[in-house]
Amino acid sequence: MSGEESDRLFLETTRRFATPALAREDVRVALQLAQVEQGKPVADLGCGYGRHLRALVEQGHAHPLGIDRSSLLLAEARAQAPGAPLLRADLRALPLHEGTLSAAFCFYSSMFLGSDDDARRALRECARVLRPEGALVLTSDNPLRLKAQPRSRFEEDVPGLGHVVEESAFDPRANVDRVTKRLLTAKGERLSATFVIRYYPPPDLAALARAAGLEFRRLEPDAPLTEATPQLVALLMKPLG
Ligand SMILES: C[S@@+](CC[C@H](N)C(=O)[O-])C[C@H]1O[C@@H](n2cnc3c(N)ncnc32)[C@H](O)[C@@H]1O
Repeated sequence: MSGEESDRLFLETTRRFATPALAREDVRVALQLAQVEQGKPVADLGCGYGRHLRALVEQGHAHPLGIDRSSLLLAEARAQAPGAPLLRADLRALPLHEGTLSAAFCFYSSMFLGSDDDARRALRECARVLRPEGALVLTSDNPLRLKAQPRSRFEEDVPGLGHVVEESAFDPRANVDRVTKRLLTAKGERLSATFVIRYYPPPDLAALARAAGLEFRRLEPDAPLTEATPQLVALLMKPLG
């Protein structure tokens, strides 16, 4: 599987199944948590094809910075959010000066697609580029829900897309989900990719954040995570000094 193949699969399937309304709601919740004024510098770390950049623009942040390592996805992001500056870069080595950002967002586990060390490095970089009292809002699937239902399978003919098969298996000891997606397009092209996603239940996330120089402030909703919580949405902050 090439990086380009997995990027295309992510793009084709997410664009088809995740509505713009969902991205707008993700951004509404994230902005409420981050409490960042319009006009202040904000970034979407691992912005993918720009669905949240577009929603940030619609919700008053005219020039959100989008950062991703995929040139394919960034090309799509350019079309989604023409006013957003884009950077092709690795989240573990951000090409930004210290204290540049008032707030950062990382939607759907973008920092957590590698090892623990990768996650630590990405969080440390985020801590470096945030201003003191700057917010980082992280969202991921809910690891408690995945633990309760560790296997899932989806297979469907999707008009305009093709035949889609998605299988996932969650390892509750490692808190790692392996998601394999396959797509047979109407033109007969076969795409396949496996995504390995590391999950951090709130105590683990708090420890990881602390080690990176960030404070875990709260979840949204502001209540203990349960199997029934739809997503894990967390607010981390860079402390004052
Ligand atoms: C699961 S996708 C989510 C994309 C976007 N946040 C969304 O919700 O549509 C993960 C994204 O993070 C990017 N990514 C993963 N690890 C990265 C890294 N180390 N540096 C830069 N981008 C990374 C991928 O290229 C991909 O676009």
